[in-house]
Amino acid sequence: MKTNTICQLRPNSATTPFLVIGGSGKTGRRVIDRLQALGHEARSASRSSSPSFDWNDDPNWSEVLEGVESLYVTYHPDLSVPGASDHIRALLAVARTQGVKRIVLLSGRGEEEAELCERLVLDSGIQATIVRCGWFNQNFSESFFRDLLMSGSLAVPNAHVGEGYVDADDIADVVTAALTGEGHAGEIYQLTGPELLTFRDIAAMFREVTGRELEVIDVSREDFVAGLKAARLPEGMVQLVDYLFNEVLDGRNASLGDGVQRALGRPPRDFRSFLQKAHLSGAFA
Ligand SMILES: NC(=O)c1ccc[n+]([C@@H]2O[C@H](COP(=O)([O-])OP(=O)(O)OC[C@H]3O[C@@H](n4cnc5c(N)ncnc54)[C@H](OP(=O)(O)O)[C@@H]3O)[C@@H](O)[C@H]2O)c1
Repeated sequence: MKTNTICQLRPNSATTPFLVIGGSGKTGRRVIDRLQALGHEARSASRSSSPSFDWNDDPNWSEVLEGVESLYVTYHPDLSVPGASDHIRALLAVARTQGVKRIVLLSGRGEEEAELCERLVLDSGIQATIVRCGWFNQNFSESFFRDLLMSGSLAVPNAHVGEGYVDADDIADVVTAALTGEGHAGEIYQLTGPELLTFRDIAAMFREVTGRELEVIDVSREDFVAGLKAARLPEGMVQLVDYLFNEVLDGRNASLGDGVQRALGRPPRDFRSFLQKAHLSGAFA
């Protein structure tokens, strides 16, 4: 995590108009890097910023949003969890009061509850763009899936279902364009990579690129959930991961989105290039 590139919150600052909620996360920190490279001041709000921002705390969100003109919102853990739409509604009320002019929301494909949050943002009266994403490539290098790859055994349900994995660098490029450029207001960009990939495809590519062994085991929903519980995941996370693997990964998202091309005028990055780059950087060492 490149925390040295992330400006911490400075209360009452009128000179830092970009705020990234979840700015230390996979997409948030890439957006901050890009904004800063363009010469903008951009800051992060999360539990580790000062002042801190916690979706679950009764917040002083006015202080956090003071002086902000443009806002990138990543919700934690997922817009599909109970209470997410209440939090988004509350954030929008504060954003309106504080005079926020532009907002970009990170959302997920195939999630009814996330679409409710998208609608709240689009109807907020603030100029808004929705970046609705497939599963991230970087789940395999910076998050949950990495442990599965490194264990040598990808034991998941629906291993044969195609998903349009998208690169977090493409997401950050689209978000940065929507925050800083014109022509993105009101858009719902569906972001995927250039191909549908199953876990079996990914395992084959992983073996080729890294030379490591990786078997794929298609497990039942019941066994998968039992495994999550045995790994002592908190109950809320068990429910979320179960929902993502067994309901969202049911084929409903087995189609490609054109969001990267529409927003940026170029095709999306591909998974093999991501894997090679991650391997060379030591992500699977
Ligand atoms: N991963 C995928 O495949 C995928 C696909 C589509 C959509 N999404 C959506 O992407 C979003 C996650 O974005 P991301 O992957 O860029 O982030 P991430 O890597 O999951 O990082 C989470 C960020 O949220 C902050 N955070 C955690 N708990 C928080 C809390 N209670 N209050 C405030 N901030 C909190 C963390 O910072 P602190 O620890 O400092 O609080 C961190 O900055 C989720 O809404 C997810 O549904 C993900």
